[in-house]
Amino acid sequence: MAANWSPDSWRARDARQLPDYPDAAALAAAERELSSYPPLVFAGEARALRADLAEVAAGRGFLLQGGDCAESFAEFHPNNIRDTFRVLLQMAVVLTYASKLPVVKLGRMAGQFAKPRSTATEEVEGRALPAYRGDIVNDQAFDASGRMPDPRRMVRAYSQAAATLNLLRAFASGGYANLHQVHAWMLDDMGRGPWAERYRDVADRIGDALGFMAACGINPDTVPQLKATAFYTSHEALLLPYEQALTRQDSLTGDWYDTSAHFLWVGDRTRFAGSAHVEYLRGVGNPIGVKCGPSLEPDALLRLLDMLDPGREPGRVTLIARFGHDRVERELPPLVRAVKREGRPVVWSCDPMHGNTVKSAGGYKTRPFDRILSEVRGFFEVHRAEGTHGGGIHAEMTGQNVTECTGGAVDVTEQSLGDRYHTHCDPRLNAAQSLELAFLLAEMLNAEMQERERARRAAA
Ligand code: PEP
Ligand code: CO
Repeated sequence: MAANWSPDSWRARDARQLPDYPDAAALAAAERELSSYPPLVFAGEARALRADLAEVAAGRGFLLQGGDCAESFAEFHPNNIRDTFRVLLQMAVVLTYASKLPVVKLGRMAGQFAKPRSTATEEVEGRALPAYRGDIVNDQAFDASGRMPDPRRMVRAYSQAAATLNLLRAFASGGYANLHQVHAWMLDDMGRGPWAERYRDVADRIGDALGFMAACGINPDTVPQLKATAFYTSHEALLLPYEQALTRQDSLTGDWYDTSAHFLWVGDRTRFAGSAHVEYLRGVGNPIGVKCGPSLEPDALLRLLDMLDPGREPGRVTLIARFGHDRVERELPPLVRAVKREGRPVVWSCDPMHGNTVKSAGGYKTRPFDRILSEVRGFFEVHRAEGTHGGGIHAEMTGQNVTECTGGAVDVTEQSLGDRYHTHCDPRLNAAQSLELAFLLAEMLNAEMQERERARRAAA
């Protein structure tokens, strides 16, 4: 257990990106209420994820993390949850098939509400209001009362997270994720396009393999792994009053866990030395992530690892690189080398979204798909050169057919961005773009596996 730590020890540190709640009594009441609610996840599940991530850190698995930039109250609908889950399953199948590695499935779902902002206020036509910080804090509409941080929103977000998680658990274990459904996961609006064809091809081959296995007596009744999958949840541990209220002591081990999700990460803006967010995450037993952007020096990263993972436990820390397509190959290697030199057992994951945001001519925040793919290629190239495992992907994506990122095989143009631009924060990959990304990743992973096999043969 972490020394000199308690669920509220972050309060004595530099807590940035938190809202100023005008009503302290209402905040305390919401915190009290949440503290008395059931945990959303159990410590044992968080430990299971940690064990899965330890395999990834050792090069024997791959992490697929994806979902909304910001979940919202307005988009809360079973079909949205199902479609995002379904695309993640499709991506996982493509990746597993190509790499022959188990894929750890981790949703940015069931709690990904709070957003860090680059400015505390937003100005429209000379009028300044508090910035929108996600539905768990305030309302997106530019309106004085809506923008006032309201602690009751934390209770509503908890309920939405609980219902979302309940549905995800049902999908994961109730038959929907049965591998025999691999064809049925195809989304209708993905019906055309080259990647849909390739997916059908992979699905056909899996179907053949399952048929052969069934003839040998291996079926979902004899091997339960075929009919269910492990699916975990994650979000940025940003709104610390909410996270603290859901921090519970595990009755089995006496350790503290953040029971709001299996995996929590600290964002690029809140991982600085002396930060309240790092202080909080240091004491919980969940596997955690650290966003690594251009401002992170190797020494600072090593100090962070000393704080967050003094025991050097494989699977405890996932480093999520988000440099931008034109910087990753220059700026990631010093971090990878420092971590490797120190023998730190981390998972390296690639977030090709947050360093590639641009404004379209029409004023939309967007991300060109070719830059996203280019950062992914750069990330894998760095790991190939350093002899380390490119262990994961972190994507903002949705199962919906949105038009938020430009490009892709089913081309989203700058002109069509306005057609279905629904995100509450950053632009997400749509279902077709997500699948296309999975096929690129599959190629990279396949190349890594072949290179490993060549090295193994040469050494034998
Ligand atoms: C995010 O993942 O939504 C995010 C804000 O990322 P970062 O902290 O890397 O900017
Ligand atoms: Co984002």
